Amino acid sequence: MSQRILVAVAWPYASGSLHLGHLGGAYLPADIFARYHRIAGNQVLMVSGSDAHGTPITVKADEEGITPREVVERYHPEILGYWDAIGISFDLFTTTMTENHAAVTQDIFLRLLEKGYLVKGTSTQFFDPEAERFLPDRYVEGTCPHCNYPRARGDQCENCGRTLDATDLIDPRSRLTGATPVLRETEHYFFKLPEFADPLREWLESKTTWRRHVKNWALGMIDEGMPERAMTRDIDWGVEVPVDDLGPSKRIYVWFDAVIGYLSAAKEWASLIEDPEAWRKWWEDPAAESYYFVGKDNIPFHTVIWPAMLMGYGGLNLPTDVPANQYITFKGEKASKSSGIGRSIGWYADRLEPDALRYAIAAVLPEQNDTDLSDDDMIRRINEELVATWGNLVNRVLSLSDRNFGGTVPEPGPLTTTDEALVASIDKTLETAAGHIEAIELRAGLRAAMDAASEVNAYLNSEEPWHVLKEDEKRAATILWTAIQAISGIRVALSPYLPWTSARLGEMLGIGPKVTGWERPEVTGGSELGTVETLFTKLDADALDD
Ligand code: MF3
Ligand code: ZN
Repeated sequence: MSQRILVAVAWPYASGSLHLGHLGGAYLPADIFARYHRIAGNQVLMVSGSDAHGTPITVKADEEGITPREVVERYHPEILGYWDAIGISFDLFTTTMTENHAAVTQDIFLRLLEKGYLVKGTSTQFFDPEAERFLPDRYVEGTCPHCNYPRARGDQCENCGRTLDATDLIDPRSRLTGATPVLRETEHYFFKLPEFADPLREWLESKTTWRRHVKNWALGMIDEGMPERAMTRDIDWGVEVPVDDLGPSKRIYVWFDAVIGYLSAAKEWASLIEDPEAWRKWWEDPAAESYYFVGKDNIPFHTVIWPAMLMGYGGLNLPTDVPANQYITFKGEKASKSSGIGRSIGWYADRLEPDALRYAIAAVLPEQNDTDLSDDDMIRRINEELVATWGNLVNRVLSLSDRNFGGTVPEPGPLTTTDEALVASIDKTLETAAGHIEAIELRAGLRAAMDAASEVNAYLNSEEPWHVLKEDEKRAATILWTAIQAISGIRVALSPYLPWTSARLGEMLGIGPKVTGWERPEVTGGSELGTVETLFTKLDADALDD
């Protein structure tokens, strides 16, 4: 039965280059998951885009002396370039600067207002007496009241991950001038989050297959007691507030509009394919599933705030799962744009073949724990696992067949029980890998496929077709045919991870580049092989040194 699956991927701020932490945190796992489901025959809609609003963008614009729009126009194309280079297969990667996005955001704002879930209130907000302006939360820095981290931002503490209000900070200071900010009154619209505590708790409790750290975080946030949150800000960059009684210098809060991007992008996609109502099948049909791939600092917004907004709005699907990843760290530190740790995705894409890069990240996805990654680890995994176990296997089997059987797939004689067992084991691997990927255990899915490749290597080492060729050509043909069937199955299991080389391998096997179903295609004895060439090149130890 074909299933509709929304693959919703965190919207990166278009305020700088992205690094491997982003790739492993959200984009690569989302892509592997989406590719698997497409191959399995499901109808996937995979969307995201550049997060264009909020203080990350305005801070950058101030630093560079350009407009916020120019900041987005600089980084959005760079980000699109990464997806092309490594094959992150979005159906749409848009931005939150579109008119469509503003309209969808304002519609949700107005509906929540009508239903009484957004209410006007007064809050005190930090004001910089030197710059003479209100300070958005991110413009205030101070000590985290929860963990004492000294450089916590006013919106969230990078160290313990908790969301904050700037007024929670100990010893606050303005990031604009360094001045000690003073409190002034300002009017905003507040979202009545506390009204959703019970339905949210009940909904979260029903999620028995979620990652434990995600569910615990969300439940913990509800148990700590959620305050009403201001959903407008004193800032002049963002989606306009669709009611004019707050005055001109306010905009919708960036997190309110960003999460709505999943919906607005689906609508934009539908109009681009000239089927404007098509988005409804992913959002309104309760049988459709939705998976939100985000980093762990995004958990509160995707497991609590966005679900509450959806509950308040009504009629749209809540997330099926939020398989948030932990962090990829570099020498123990979290990569981040602001700290400059970790080089950009583009830097790596210029130096590594896309599938080699995908492999090195997929093998260490931080699904349960923060995972440290160094350039040396990446090179070692590419050479010792990808090239040695998989690349060489393909190469020796196909070259032997090509050279000794006139460029064709050898025609087998009768199979031994060992031959049959190998092929059966590969078919089993496809089932195992499917189970892992569906459960979003993507490292395990990759491991299953690579273990299968090791099994074929062991089979070859004991059957030694290169010796048998001299005495018993028919038996050698049978061994090679068997190994080719195994390779054909493993190719399918690896294809969500390694789409580029899976396509090339399909050509070499003479069965075409596309993987058309989650099962092993039989490669017929006597059929023509394509041009046999190496799948992966071994890297020099200094390949990532410059
Ligand atoms: N821009 C945010 C970040 O980089 C993520 C936004 S995901 C969203 O942390 F879609 F929810 F907005
Ligand atoms: Zn903290």
